[in-house]
Amino acid sequence: MKENSLFLFLIFSGLALSCTSYITNDEPGDSTEFTQEDMLILSKELNLPFAPFNYANIDLPEHYRSEEANEADNTPDHNRITDMGATLGRVLFYDKKLSANNTISCASCHKQSAAFSDPRKFSIGLHGEQTRRNSMTLINSRYYENQAFFWDERASTLEKQVLMPIEDHIEMGMDLDSLERKLQKLDYYGVLFRYAFGSEQVTSNKISLALSQFTRSIVSYNSRFDEGFIAAGFPDDEEQMPDFSNFTAMENLGMDIFYRGRNGGTCLYCHGTPQHVNDIAKNNGLDLNYSDSGKGEVTGLASDNALFKVPSLRNIAKTAPYMHDGRFETLREVVDHYSDNVQNHPNLNFRLKTLDDGEEGVAEVLRLKLSEEEKEALVAFLLTLTDEKVITEEKYSDPFIRNTDE
Ligand code: HEC
Ligand code: HEC
Repeated sequence: MKENSLFLFLIFSGLALSCTSYITNDEPGDSTEFTQEDMLILSKELNLPFAPFNYANIDLPEHYRSEEANEADNTPDHNRITDMGATLGRVLFYDKKLSANNTISCASCHKQSAAFSDPRKFSIGLHGEQTRRNSMTLINSRYYENQAFFWDERASTLEKQVLMPIEDHIEMGMDLDSLERKLQKLDYYGVLFRYAFGSEQVTSNKISLALSQFTRSIVSYNSRFDEGFIAAGFPDDEEQMPDFSNFTAMENLGMDIFYRGRNGGTCLYCHGTPQHVNDIAKNNGLDLNYSDSGKGEVTGLASDNALFKVPSLRNIAKTAPYMHDGRFETLREVVDHYSDNVQNHPNLNFRLKTLDDGEEGVAEVLRLKLSEEEKEALVAFLLTLTDEKVITEEKYSDPFIRNTDE
């Protein structure tokens, strides 16, 4: 009797499983390679490998698999990365057809060679107009505990964020219904949506899922910092970071300033995780009066005025200019800011003040007051965060055969 019901249970659950893969739309297909026939369709426009690149099971080093890293990882259960999903995302990311006049793709403002940011202070959208803020690097955007996206954190998830530039009238100027119809007519999307989601039907939900998968797959773990961190045995107390054997004396001095600070101030608290990400939008005292209120504009709260999210400092050497308004052209200018120019804005984060949160007394603004040598050393350390692999690897590059001007 017992064995019988177990047997029935197995049959029914087997049926239920096999049914779901037919009836739901947004389930990944299970093919691991494109067929010859589908490859012929794809290869008219795209240079893609028969078997997709590996996006789903990247062999991440231990410091990207720690509890801390997993907590910061904003991948939702309903949108785990698949190789076919991220492949579709890559094609969408580089496709100028996502803009109303076929001139702008995501990559126009998030260039791989510039670590998926834009070397221009402000980016240029489909009608030649400028964006309001500096473009952000997408590297390690997967690791942001507060989930939220954009400098002012106005998008609560990446899945919501990736559709916003498409609809933005300055950036790509496309409404989502027209986009679905436009992409449905392109043969290569029929194939790519089928492999990624089991049916050829193009929906903006699937576009959002695929673009998010590709974006989250862009992770940096091949910098000289990573080499040193691994060789040092994954030190888990960043305040006690040992010197790295692959670093010069200058770089080690810079690392010391970054993690242990000077005159009570340090970079550690806001950029110090192994992925070099922050946890929530903050104010770092760029001005006394901001013309852009950042998060405050979204929430309407005075206490959120002039708070900004920071993208990861990974590949910071490649993402100039810096800050939400691209005001600094060089890392030396950034270091000068923290050393000498931090302004006592009412919302200046307590880590850049002389008193800890909740401590009694009048908190003064805290400037690191670095010597010339220390400033050079801090810049030298920031350069160790450069990862040439992620900014040249084919799996993150433009797959279109005819795009020539990117
Ligand atoms: C015309 C230029 C432009 C285009 C096109 C563009 N972006 Fe952006 N992107 C920006 C700018 C500028 C910001 C910062 C805007 C802000 O915070 O207000 C940004 C921010 C982002 C962020 C937030 C990163 C973070 O860590 O919070 C993501 C993710 C992103 N873009 C992805 C995309 C995707 C995906 C596409 C294509 C569908 C795209 N972008 C198209 C300019 C552009
Ligand atoms: C209290 C938190 C805090 C501390 C401490 C801090 N930062 Fe920042 N950092 C921020 C915020 C917030 C931004 C973005 C501000 C903006 O754009 O308005 C930022 C931006 C940056 C940027 C530019 C990022 C980009 O993509 O444009 C760099 C580089 C940087 N910080 C380096 C450092 C260094 C080096 C130190 C130590 C000397 C440091 N930070 C200390 C919060 C902090």
